[in-house]
Amino acid sequence: MEVGRGSFGSKIGVVLATAGSAVGLGNVWRFPYTAGENGGAAFILIYIGCIMLLGIPGMVSEFIVGRHAQANAAKAYDVLSNGRPWKFVGYLGILTSTIILGFYAVVAGWCLQYLFASIAGQINGDAEYVKNYFVSFSSDPLKPTLWGVAFILITHFVIVRGVRHGIEKASKLLMPILFILLLILVVASCMLPGALGGIRFLLHPDFSKLSSSVMLEALGQAFFSLSLGTACLCTYASYFTKDTNLLRSASQIAVIDTLIAVLSGLMIFPAAFSVGVNPDSGPSLIFITLPNVFQQAFSAIPALGYVVSIMFYALLVFAALTSTISMHEIGTAFFTEEFELPRKKSAWVQTIVAGIICVFCSLSVGAYSDLQLMGFSLMDFCDRLTANFLLPLGAMLACLFVGWYIPKQVVRDEFTNEGALRGRLFGVFLFAVRIVCPICITLIFLHQLGIV
Ligand code: TRP
Repeated sequence: MEVGRGSFGSKIGVVLATAGSAVGLGNVWRFPYTAGENGGAAFILIYIGCIMLLGIPGMVSEFIVGRHAQANAAKAYDVLSNGRPWKFVGYLGILTSTIILGFYAVVAGWCLQYLFASIAGQINGDAEYVKNYFVSFSSDPLKPTLWGVAFILITHFVIVRGVRHGIEKASKLLMPILFILLLILVVASCMLPGALGGIRFLLHPDFSKLSSSVMLEALGQAFFSLSLGTACLCTYASYFTKDTNLLRSASQIAVIDTLIAVLSGLMIFPAAFSVGVNPDSGPSLIFITLPNVFQQAFSAIPALGYVVSIMFYALLVFAALTSTISMHEIGTAFFTEEFELPRKKSAWVQTIVAGIICVFCSLSVGAYSDLQLMGFSLMDFCDRLTANFLLPLGAMLACLFVGWYIPKQVVRDEFTNEGALRGRLFGVFLFAVRIVCPICITLIFLHQLGIV
């Protein structure tokens, strides 16, 4: 274990760890069907607009706070706010990421179970069988819950190894494997007969589908996908070194994240269209539709279907793991520094809290469907509460804090690494965080409330 705060050891480590946080189930699973349903390339264009206009400035804002303070999220806001109550933005981030970790681990746990099931050849069978398999697995009171908790425990054991030996090492190993698996699956999928229909579905721009709710969808997806709005990036930035170029890193991560999202669409849709399956949304896409698709698409060579299925679930597990690591680290860093607990103990605190949320979320979509809040299952409630409300709020507060509250000189120094970089885009950045982001996010809130 490391002594002291720890930091990432190399530039590539910074980019891979932060990209590892960004690339997750949001890219490999949620992005493809959201894009497919909402106008294909037209949605992707709006999405890229959101990333550039709001995502990158938001990321840089969180980076600035974290790297300047070199502390956990709550302390980072505190250090920069002269006793003013901005610390609550850090608390909010810690709370949000713990809730996300809880429900995200449920789906990640399903992926892990499916990885083992595909290795054991258990999800081979006709369409009815695969569907029943998912229904009986997910409604079992015990199994999915245990897999979810197991996933948090795996995350835990990476976290206790520290920043450099845990987070950075895991990201350096998993991210390249993830990319290679993805490329192999994209090529396999696009070579299937009839794959063109799927490519068209994803990339054909249908501007008639664009509406204000689609814009909202794109924005929510952009925030979630970049891990923005929970002080996650702020915590990671506290491990950056003084010579990390913040704008360049944010841009690189945004490019990697978007590329992987689009490639994931090119993995899923061509295969689905090739066998004439309608790509559904929601959990059934990856747990019911795709196992069928793999079997049918590679029915001539069943061994290939077997391998492809294992690769696919391994890809999901790796993507999810580098993301849950980042959600876990926010709380762990907080408990370690604020309560002066050893890292091991504070990791347990975070694991237990997230584990409890995970158990209840898992039960709410399985055996105990009356675990509801405001008409939603607890799992959906947590998802909506965070994606539609807490993430945009967290991102907006980060932008307002950096744009208006902390001294401009501090912002400039961080942006330009104390003048070592020219910082030609500093004016544009400041305009984005002061004006563009707050206005856009306020509009979103007003829209959600039905006011505009
Ligand atoms: N970005 C990840 C994904 O696309 C999820 C994620 C990781 C996240 N850390 C986060 C989302 C912090 C919000 C906040 O799956």
